[in-house]
Amino acid sequence: MMNILKNLPKRERNLMTDPLWYRTAVFYEVMVRAFHDSDGDGIGDLRGLIKRLDYLAWLGVDALWLPPIYPSPLRDGGYDVADYRAIDPRYGTMADFEELIAEVHKRGMRITIDLVMNHSSDQHPWFQASRTDPDGPYGDYYVWSDTDQKWANARIIFTDHETSNWAWDSVREQFYWHRFYHHQPDLNFENPKVQQEMMDIARFWLEKGIDGFRLDAVPYLFEDDSNGGENDPRTHEYLRRFRAMVDAEFPGRVLLAEANQPPEEAAAYFGTEEEPECHLCFHFPVMPRIFYSIKAQDATKLREILHATPVPPAKGQWSTFLRNHDELTLEMVTDQERRQMFEWYAPHPQMKANVGIRRRLAPLLDNSRHAMELAHALILSLPGTPCLYYGDEIGMGDNVWLPDRDGVRTPMQWTPDRNAGFSRADPGALNLPVVQSLLHHYNGVNVESSLMQPTSLLFWLRRFLTSRAQHPAFADGGYADVPSSESSVFSFLRTHPEESVLVAMNFSTNQCSTLLDLPDFAGRTVKTIVSNTPFQDVGDDGKLRLTFGPHSFYWLVIAHD
Ligand code: GLC
Repeated sequence: MMNILKNLPKRERNLMTDPLWYRTAVFYEVMVRAFHDSDGDGIGDLRGLIKRLDYLAWLGVDALWLPPIYPSPLRDGGYDVADYRAIDPRYGTMADFEELIAEVHKRGMRITIDLVMNHSSDQHPWFQASRTDPDGPYGDYYVWSDTDQKWANARIIFTDHETSNWAWDSVREQFYWHRFYHHQPDLNFENPKVQQEMMDIARFWLEKGIDGFRLDAVPYLFEDDSNGGENDPRTHEYLRRFRAMVDAEFPGRVLLAEANQPPEEAAAYFGTEEEPECHLCFHFPVMPRIFYSIKAQDATKLREILHATPVPPAKGQWSTFLRNHDELTLEMVTDQERRQMFEWYAPHPQMKANVGIRRRLAPLLDNSRHAMELAHALILSLPGTPCLYYGDEIGMGDNVWLPDRDGVRTPMQWTPDRNAGFSRADPGALNLPVVQSLLHHYNGVNVESSLMQPTSLLFWLRRFLTSRAQHPAFADGGYADVPSSESSVFSFLRTHPEESVLVAMNFSTNQCSTLLDLPDFAGRTVKTIVSNTPFQDVGDDGKLRLTFGPHSFYWLVIAHD
């Protein structure tokens, strides 16, 4: 089908030799289970992903992030780990995984996986031993208590399913602590053996050749009365040691923090330049405000949060994203903002999950091509390493009728054929059904159709990823807000020694025009980035007038010489 993918562009940056590769890379979250099924059992697998690597290389993806592929009862999408040192046989073998690493690297790309440090599945042998043999070697691996009244101020995260962070174990006749599902007991990080165990597990995978980890649920490792079970100083201390191990034994490999926290607390996971923790932190503060600002047709909230967000230490970098395998979380916005966002984005109760919205990008943005481009252009140009979510590049839909967050984890849509080309299995045997909604049916929304249409979102995104890679200001440049006379216009500069990139976006669904003040660039020529053609000069008075269509934006470059 995809002959077009054979002509892979030559990578201009060599990610394989650059120790700061994660600052210039574009990440792509790919759920192995949902991407491509090579053996026809209805479940995506590692060999299936290998088959699709050329597609990802063609698109311009630099690094993969794979959510957990460990053996698991799959009661939380694999974040309920039953064995940290193996591959779930449904996805393949360790040899398949090693081949995947080699194939990714062969294409000049990098590969990271999830490390679920905070908790395991209750099916993990450690937990089974802990509950049956309190005095045995695993007795202290989990957080046990005779009372369920401790740390009462810790919030509940899975509000749809849990009413307490404690669960009673009838075998050990004690309560155990769990920040997520009751079948995911928290590991006891006060136990030095647990700390050591996690480091050794990390070594095990790093020795296989992976390029880093997303550290799942990292704020919750240690609990204490004073911190609501989050961001404990001992958690940071442990992460500093963890990072020191990675730097000493596996230089160039990276840690990416999943810390859904307010700006200061999220930024704390970078550590400091002298005592670093994670290389990358997901930009949870900015993500919901992108969606807020687009619907509000007003950039104020976005400006405010960027202003309130600390700049990472020298080698650290935020990771910008729009959607992932979870709900669009609204835990860190104000009550008023949350109410407003539920009203805008989750008009049906099925669209809500916990304190968030379980929908994909295209349905969230009413399938508006302009809005999808705008949102993507934003995460590709704000300071940070963008992380894309599989399927969003073709505007895939979701299925809000599936339970939990499964609606945004349905099979990738490759072709209009059976099971959207994801699998040869009987359709009833699929891990999750393919999307067949009126608007997003896989007949129309699929990679093959997108490749036949040069104006598709897929081609658009590829073009923008290519352009982004050609201008180092996007990855490494400084950031300066450019005030605009229109509240719907969001404008900023990414500054770099040779050139500055000017980004200006209209969040309004109306046309508008604004005058930007660029005193440092008076008289300079401005070019469009994607087509590299002269646009207009900044006036001698340092002013540049821009006129926008609904949800339109500019990516412009100003040479410094
Ligand atoms: C993270 C994961 C989410 C999972 C939770 C518990 O937030 O992204 O999918 O349910 O951790 O492990």
